Amino acid sequence: MNLQEQMTLEAAQAFESCGFDPELGRINLSNRPDLCEYQCNGALAAAKKYHKNPMEIAEAVAARLAASPLFENVQAIKPGFINLNASAAAAAALLEDLKNDPRFDVETIGEGRTAIIDYGGANVAKPLHVGHLRSAIIGESLKRLYAFMGYDAVGDVHLGDWGLQMGLVIEAVKDAQPDLPYFDESFTGEYPSKAPFTITDLETIYPAASARAKEDAAFSERAHAATFKLQQGDPGYTALFRHVLNVSKADLKKNYDALDVHFELWKGESDVQPYIADMMADFEKQGILKESEGALVIEVARPDDTKEVPPCLVQKSDGAYLYATTDLATIVEREKLYHPAEYCYVTDKRQNMHFEQVFRAAKLSGIVPQDRVLFHLGYGTMNGKDGKPFKTRSGGVLRLEYLLKDVIDAVYARMAEIDLPEEEKKQTAAVIGLAALKYGDLSNQATKDYVFDLDRFSSFEGNTGPYILYTVVRIRSILRKAREQGIAAGTILPAVSAGEKELQLQLGRVGRTVQESFEEKAPHKLCQFIYELSNDFSAFYRDNHILKEEDKARQSSWISLLELTERELITLCRLLGFDAPERM
Ligand code: ARG
Repeated sequence: MNLQEQMTLEAAQAFESCGFDPELGRINLSNRPDLCEYQCNGALAAAKKYHKNPMEIAEAVAARLAASPLFENVQAIKPGFINLNASAAAAAALLEDLKNDPRFDVETIGEGRTAIIDYGGANVAKPLHVGHLRSAIIGESLKRLYAFMGYDAVGDVHLGDWGLQMGLVIEAVKDAQPDLPYFDESFTGEYPSKAPFTITDLETIYPAASARAKEDAAFSERAHAATFKLQQGDPGYTALFRHVLNVSKADLKKNYDALDVHFELWKGESDVQPYIADMMADFEKQGILKESEGALVIEVARPDDTKEVPPCLVQKSDGAYLYATTDLATIVEREKLYHPAEYCYVTDKRQNMHFEQVFRAAKLSGIVPQDRVLFHLGYGTMNGKDGKPFKTRSGGVLRLEYLLKDVIDAVYARMAEIDLPEEEKKQTAAVIGLAALKYGDLSNQATKDYVFDLDRFSSFEGNTGPYILYTVVRIRSILRKAREQGIAAGTILPAVSAGEKELQLQLGRVGRTVQESFEEKAPHKLCQFIYELSNDFSAFYRDNHILKEEDKARQSSWISLLELTERELITLCRLLGFDAPERM
């Protein structure tokens, strides 16, 4: 239990023994930190409820709280507020417990439960776009949070590998290399195991084919037909499709690795096609399919909807299945193979309605039970400084490698004065650059749009990834020196200065923060926390000469504080998806 919860318990008892509802004894963080650390506004509510004078209630409760070892400076303030501080002894005692607790007192609520985190979502053969970058970064962090909470967290990249882009690529390859066996209907041998193109080829094949299809109706027609033929299981096209998939996956994997983003499952839309026929037959049997202009839909609107929820389209009039059909079939497969207790999808918020429809259809059709947790995190757009969706310097769509390289270069440029061997300096810039990129993204509330600001993100000062890492590295260096001087960690003592108290109180809030970030799927709260903690540490360090301190017990207590600060910072950095370099 953290300090605030302990204090709330005490306050509840105080209200109760004064004859009031214990629920009123809620302790909040002070909104006047210049006056006090915490406050309780229960006396005002009690006055209304019991028709009594609020000030008298506040005074009676305050008198009881003042007698508790948890509090200090308890004051009843007109018209009935109670301002108070945590006692320095209680704050220190809590940290003594946290010091030896790798989980920071966070319950493993996910024990024995599987969570599928569906993120990444890149489209095979197409270039990655900005939206996919955010999915990778946010999804990876959420997955790590799920794992920290004790879930068996399974990340699935869920590739878009079953659309028109495949037909486009197939037709383009056919035009360029018509003699390949994939296009020979009479071919009966074994198809080559080596792909007829490299990733570099693919990078030009798709955009060219896509552009051509816009102008050349006959080509577009052929691409549609090829897509259909592939989806019907044509052996030559299927073999070629496998090549596209493998070449593309290898490249994507490289890109995701560079981002320190890793998937347990490399599945895609194509993997669940075998489930569709049975699923559709089951919908049919249940009588939930409606015809609408030749297409088939499932009605998912509810009488209490505040905005229109259109029917979920599962089959087009030409017989083709859609994005929603595939997503429903994916749930069928996941239920069968993984029995997840929770699903968490991370995509652009423009897909909010799609997931609303899919989730409703999944419950309506009984693919999942009513209580299955289906959650979609729809994030906002990463914009450039012009307020429009981010483009690279050359104005093109984002190549992830280039973007990451830009960030790493910007970080490297700021390291001019840092004295490290060249090779280590480059590696360090890469580690810091990744943190700059990820923190720059994750420190914003995910659902909001934000501006990609290379200068700001790569700065070593302010609310940035590099600043947080710099704090970690600085603490490690102090701890190293302490070790060299034989200074050991010791019992954490009650704070003797305001700065030390601030640091201790913040350290004590780590568990609650992790839990809240998980519950609200809000990595930005982790960022906020480590930023504040870094600031608290910096202020504390500025005011106290740890290595020169004469009082040995005090010095050892500070070393423990530093160790805990370092551990909290690095644990949360890893939950965000990045790590710290050795030196910087
Ligand atoms: N490939 C999709 C896109 O680029 C994202 C996939 C998200 N996951 C899902 N199960 N629909 O928009």
